[in-house]
Amino acid sequence: MTFVSHQLRCIGSGERIAPDAVSSDFRDPATGELYEIEYPWSETKGNGAQFRPNPQALKHLWAERRDSTLPIDASGVWRYRELLPILRDDANAVTLREGSTPLYDLPRTAKLLGLDFLLAKHQGMNPTGSFKDTGMTTALSVAAERGFKWVACASTGNTSAAMAAYAARAGLNAIVFIPEGKIAWGKLSQSMDYGALTVQLKTDFDGCVKMLAEIVRKNPVYLLNSVNPYRLEGQKTPAIEICEQLDWQVPDHVIVPGGNLANGSALGKGFSELKHLGFIDRIPKISVIQAQGANPLFQWFTNEEKLLHPVTADTRATAIRIGNPASWRKAARVIEATGGWCEQASEDEIALAKAQIGAEGIGCEPASAVTLAGLKKLMKSGHVQSGERVVLLLTGHTLKDSEYTIDFHKGLLGTDSAAENAYRRPPLVMDADESAVMRALEKEMAGKV
Ligand code: F0G
Repeated sequence: MTFVSHQLRCIGSGERIAPDAVSSDFRDPATGELYEIEYPWSETKGNGAQFRPNPQALKHLWAERRDSTLPIDASGVWRYRELLPILRDDANAVTLREGSTPLYDLPRTAKLLGLDFLLAKHQGMNPTGSFKDTGMTTALSVAAERGFKWVACASTGNTSAAMAAYAARAGLNAIVFIPEGKIAWGKLSQSMDYGALTVQLKTDFDGCVKMLAEIVRKNPVYLLNSVNPYRLEGQKTPAIEICEQLDWQVPDHVIVPGGNLANGSALGKGFSELKHLGFIDRIPKISVIQAQGANPLFQWFTNEEKLLHPVTADTRATAIRIGNPASWRKAARVIEATGGWCEQASEDEIALAKAQIGAEGIGCEPASAVTLAGLKKLMKSGHVQSGERVVLLLTGHTLKDSEYTIDFHKGLLGTDSAAENAYRRPPLVMDADESAVMRALEKEMAGKV
């Protein structure tokens, strides 16, 4: 691939810098704002027509790559590399064959809600079980190509799992900061399994972010949180993949969970680049759903505030237990530009939604289930109509937080409502006595076909 130069553009001032000129915290020192990656063909660049990719040719090429055995073609991120030309040499891509995740239909949930068309893009089907892999393959490849030996992140668990895995593949050293006791065991075990130096800090995610900022300022350590705009280049590819999987039809509404707020931002960038380049003729609405206990964007949105006010976050959807989201301005811009909405979901609403997704045979982690909980509210308030084609973005695999699932089914979480109890399947614990087992099974089977 020919290397196409890119720049980093401050989202506040529009000032551009060369990739090598960026500071270790990926913020513009003048404005304190984040950067986004800009290519010669980007909309913000004006007329870059001579560099414009050809949609028809690329649709063919990307489809053909599905049959290729080359690792970067087998990757559902690098398969679209013409729209993310961030590496000097493709051979430097560090890939675990991420992306290419399934787009499932949710027939029972659709019927329950009175929707004709409801799909779930399951990003939990990535190599480390979350959507973070799509952004980690890109940003960590940049770190490796630029010669960094150490990488680091603060995380609620999924970023750290992904970073640890990709660092291990590239032979880099990884340091992760996670809030002690506030992340799911599955995620903690992953970063250890992949050989990262795992630091559990007695603080929350927002405290971990502060600590990390000091570490990267004083050491040659490459920051891999989602303030790093190369993460978003990978995380925009599910937008391309959704369109490709729908035969280049665009859904009406895409609903994402909101934590640090990079993911909604990245998808927005993906869809608007596709539209700008002529791959699609319109952009879906993108709505962001937060947990009620970690809802600074929701508060900003409903109170029509100018600035976002951080909150002290608390939710059992630990992946999105974030009170001071770094990418809020980017996400706010996407919601406004696409005509989307911002909602919040209570703990009980999340628990029920998660059980309903599980009952479809799909499953996801609690943070992903806020999308369905939010969709129900968006339908109630009329922001989603029954004729709309809706895609929920499921961000993490159900096995990431099995403790949550078990607590729900044992009745240790949620309410005693009929709606929740209808989905509860607590295990039967009993003696290995055949007649007792038979009696119990007969009772269970009675009335069910
Ligand atoms: N869903 C899951 C499963 C997540 O792990 C996260 C974020 C989100 C949703 C929210 O995405 O932050 O881009 O708005 N997890 C981060 C982490 C913060 O450290 O793993 P976002």
